[in-house]
Amino acid sequence: MIKRDNAFVAWIDRRLPISNAFEKHMSQYYAPKNLNAWYFFGVLSLLVLVNQIITGIWLTMNYVPSAEEAFRSVEYIMRDVELGWLLRYMHSTGASAFFVVVYLHMFRGILYGSYQKPRELIWLFGMAIYLLLMAEAFMGYVLPWGQMSYWGAQVIINLFGAIPVIGPDLTQWIRGDFLISGITLNRFFALHVVALPLIIVALVVAHILALHEVGSNNPDGIDIKKHVDDQGRPKDGIPFYPYFLPVHDLVGIVVFLIVFSIVLFFFPEGGGYFLEAPNFEEANPLKTPEHIAPVWYFGAFYAILRAVTFDVGPINSTLGGVIAMGAAIAVLFVLPWLDRSPVRSWRYKGWMSKVAIVLFAISFAILTWLGGEAQTPALTILSQVCMAIYFAFFLLMPFYTKYEKCKPVPERIPSK
Ligand code: HEM
Repeated sequence: MIKRDNAFVAWIDRRLPISNAFEKHMSQYYAPKNLNAWYFFGVLSLLVLVNQIITGIWLTMNYVPSAEEAFRSVEYIMRDVELGWLLRYMHSTGASAFFVVVYLHMFRGILYGSYQKPRELIWLFGMAIYLLLMAEAFMGYVLPWGQMSYWGAQVIINLFGAIPVIGPDLTQWIRGDFLISGITLNRFFALHVVALPLIIVALVVAHILALHEVGSNNPDGIDIKKHVDDQGRPKDGIPFYPYFLPVHDLVGIVVFLIVFSIVLFFFPEGGGYFLEAPNFEEANPLKTPEHIAPVWYFGAFYAILRAVTFDVGPINSTLGGVIAMGAAIAVLFVLPWLDRSPVRSWRYKGWMSKVAIVLFAISFAILTWLGGEAQTPALTILSQVCMAIYFAFFLLMPFYTKYEKCKPVPERIPSK
């Protein structure tokens, strides 16, 4: 607890308002009393972000960003650097953990309508973070300069080539060369290590400031600011410090660390899902791996890219796939304006919303799996069906959320 009457604190306070900031964001920040386990994933995203930054700094001390040295330097980290294997696995397994917690964090937002008014900006900052996180993970995967680093980058960068007119020049601009080379590796290193982490951290700060301006939503979607006591404190809220941080959140952090450690020490490569087998072979521009698949967290969007196997008018299937993939991400940005429901949480929404959310989650999971599978006619049809469900969830939302019958939302958070 900050003691304002302490001479040292008072000295700082006169120069920098730390006590005010602590009160505003911690001890006087009232969070709803009914936050459940879904609310662990924000703080866990923060924890994994810090893990990525710290382990990343240490990896950078021994990693060499050049086409000749990169692969060897990663092997050196794994074999010779003291605890290098642990740092590398904490970072590579940490990347997968990041997407697990971020996907669950986003899904919580969908379940409880946390993107609705007045939290649209929190969602938009979140989506910007998500987009940059994908770029960050993609570039990070190129750095070990293994077979999948090289050929994965080849597939993804070539997608930009499908854009009419500017495509070929754009791919060359991204690569900085006529083919993927050490020059590409170098710029990806600079972006992965300096530029993107800086922007991501800045966006996370903006995300949390925006959250603290309007206050947290909750599993019932009830506005706790409507009922305040005579000192203006929400009756259904409790101070963030010390009740959520550290008490409530510590439970989630400990459970997460146990699960993360089990994966880290016993399945660090996640059976080929976190680090794919071809990436243990050095990049070879003359030898294409038999089966090029993205890491699992890109699976759903990669499956949507491949699901478009047909031309639509002047748009060929490759460009169509790129457009569908871009649209699948873009539509998430406008989610706050697609939901017209008078209630926030799915607890009070009608049956159509509930069915839509369940179908959406199942189709996203199947698409994630399909992204890693080799294409067969049957799987292509399955991916097309799941893609249709994915888009229907969003595009039909203005209708089913408007016309379905919702349950009345209680004025106050129901006590258990
Ligand atoms: C590095 C990534 C991220 C970090 C560190 C982060 C951090 C946080 C934290 C600490 C909270 C408050 C605790 C909680 O509600 O769980 C929060 C809330 C929220 N986040 Fe994130 N977030 C991240 C990414 C995202 C993404 C990708 C989205 C969605 C696109 C998102 C959407 C939201 C929303 C809507 C809330 C308010 C939830 C509510 O009040 O019900 N966040 N975030």
